[in-house]
Amino acid sequence: MNFRDIPKVELHTHLEGSAPPAFIAGLAREKNIDISGIFDAQGGYAFRDFDHFLQVYEAACTTLQSPEDFRRLTLAVLEETAAHGVVYMETFVSPDFCGGGDVAAWRDYLAAMQDAADEAERTMGITLRGIVTGIRHFGPDQCKIAAACAAETKGDFITGFGMAGGEMVGRPGDYAYSFDMAREAGLQLTAHAGEWGGPSMVAETIRDLKVARIGHGIGAIDDPKLMAEIADKGIVLEVCPGSNVVLKAVSGWDAHPIAKLRDAGVPVTVSTDDPPFFHTTMTDEYDMLAKTFGWGADDFRALNKIALDAAFCDDETRARVAKRLEPKDE
Ligand code: HPA
Ligand code: ZN
Repeated sequence: MNFRDIPKVELHTHLEGSAPPAFIAGLAREKNIDISGIFDAQGGYAFRDFDHFLQVYEAACTTLQSPEDFRRLTLAVLEETAAHGVVYMETFVSPDFCGGGDVAAWRDYLAAMQDAADEAERTMGITLRGIVTGIRHFGPDQCKIAAACAAETKGDFITGFGMAGGEMVGRPGDYAYSFDMAREAGLQLTAHAGEWGGPSMVAETIRDLKVARIGHGIGAIDDPKLMAEIADKGIVLEVCPGSNVVLKAVSGWDAHPIAKLRDAGVPVTVSTDDPPFFHTTMTDEYDMLAKTFGWGADDFRALNKIALDAAFCDDETRARVAKRLEPKDE
């Protein structure tokens, strides 16, 4: 089956992490920045493990220095994503990489991203929403600055607040102030947890940050009571299987818990995380889920409905996207 053409909803991508390596290498050349060490012989991103991945990621981000860079990046990413049938996408964006937390600068970067998103919606039929993201290993104080930027710019484009980065730094509760601020501003919430931290990290994230969604969350598989709680509360996992395989959060596709989580009633969705880093696309993810677990068109339709129901958008947008998910008459 050709999975490329299935209309898809993708909830978990990082904008900078979706930058093609050739795009970043081009910016580095333009600006005379030497980041040759982050590429392999084929021009792909090279990293040994998760911590090194975060270092390479941040090095790549040093080339993104202006709103115009982010406008070009957003357009390039949406073009690639739309080519895999994605009709609605959410992406994590960090004030830390867009003006260093200065609210006025952040507004200029956002305007450029939104400009690109509007163009992509018109020309490619893909809808984008942004989730402002604190970087956990930058610490709770820096995260508060990101949350303040989020609260200041909540609107049609920025609809959520989240946290990514080094999951084993601190505890979720250390970041509660930021999540409280974002919630007060009316933003919807998600946080990376259970990619590395196991069930206790997932449970604490739900308890202390009161999120509607969890980024990854696969560590929940080791605690049946927690899985039941997640299912009961309808907390949605943004699962990124290809990312987990490449970063060795799981030992391989066969060992990935996504099918068992789904069988336990946990609402799961599928995303690419940082596609060029993990040599994946949404089509590849669907291909591997079909090959590994026997999932087919009906499973993917159900998956996309869960994702759209959990999307951080308004009901008018949700209804508009729902129409695009309906199967076309052959
Ligand atoms: N996990 C945590 N932080 C990240 C990731 C990820 O997979 N991608 C980009 N930042
Ligand atoms: Zn992620």
